Amino acid sequence: MTEHSSDLDAFIAGLPKAELHIHIEGSLEPEQMFDFARRNRVALPFRTVEEIRAAYQFTRLQDFLDIYYEGAKVLLSAEDFHDLGMAYFRRLAADSGRHAEVFFDPQTHTDRGLPFGVAAEGLLAAMDEAERELGVTSKLILCFLRHLDEDAAFATLKAAEPWLDRIAGVGLDSSELGHPPSKFARVFHAAGERGLKRVAHAGEEGPPQYVWEALDVLRVDRIDHGNRALEDQALTARLAADGVTLTVCPLSNQKLCVVDDMAAHPLPLMLALGLKATVNSDDPAYFGGYLNANYRAVAQATGLSREALAELARNSFTGSFLDTGQVAGHLAEIDRYVAAQT
Ligand code: HPA
Ligand code: ZN
Repeated sequence: MTEHSSDLDAFIAGLPKAELHIHIEGSLEPEQMFDFARRNRVALPFRTVEEIRAAYQFTRLQDFLDIYYEGAKVLLSAEDFHDLGMAYFRRLAADSGRHAEVFFDPQTHTDRGLPFGVAAEGLLAAMDEAERELGVTSKLILCFLRHLDEDAAFATLKAAEPWLDRIAGVGLDSSELGHPPSKFARVFHAAGERGLKRVAHAGEEGPPQYVWEALDVLRVDRIDHGNRALEDQALTARLAADGVTLTVCPLSNQKLCVVDDMAAHPLPLMLALGLKATVNSDDPAYFGGYLNANYRAVAQATGLSREALAELARNSFTGSFLDTGQVAGHLAEIDRYVAAQT
């Protein structure tokens, strides 16, 4: 018997957790898109919030990316990025989120003529404020757009130089197919030499080979998504043996047709295979929900137990870039929560 869904929802609501896969530009809600467009006098191709939401019908990653890059054009000032960040952190705090490792796409903004520091300073100000006022900690991860070339990624790393002491790592996102991780071997190596952590989207739409490359060529600390790794037994065994964290995004997978049906989501299989899976929202404003909505959707559809949910939350801290003392504190809080619930 699976537990009554409202009880499970309450368990999820209070469960302390971290988010490791959130594109801050993907938290831009339609209402905010209008606010920023008005504030910045940017014309939008939509008249109403409903029109925007109706346009969010995707059959693959690229359908989403086209509209996501279009939406980001309303972001023009450091204040915009600050407000975007704070709106996200408030939602995270309401979901019992204690920590986030936040992606941003500097090239989406520098290619529109914004200096690197506009997005970076706005987001860093929000991160400081979230820690002070909400008790939510965070780290910032700069993502390179993989549809652009490696020289552009190098230029971005150079532009980031003055902020690198406040940036935890680099990531790799955007159109996966045709843009294998090996295309970015040198810039990831350079990032590693600067002491930055490394993560990469791999195996969302791309083949298992891309996950191998992320591990062996980019030497990543985590894999973002990783769904298609399950097609390769040797790769699955490697991920399990090395304890590589996978940042899985259930509602994103459903919206982008990476899975046919939430009931068939591979998350329970990942846990059964000993993989360090986590639950994340990816682009919550576009995919239909924030962190707890992702936990609820996958838990209800696949029948995850409380123990499995607590394991996912533990994995979100052990897979984070927090130091071991901080991780231990969060794990102890999960233990206290689980003990008090049962
Ligand atoms: N995949 C690749 N690139 C992205 C995504 C994603 O899910 N979200 C934002 N950029
Ligand atoms: Zn993503």
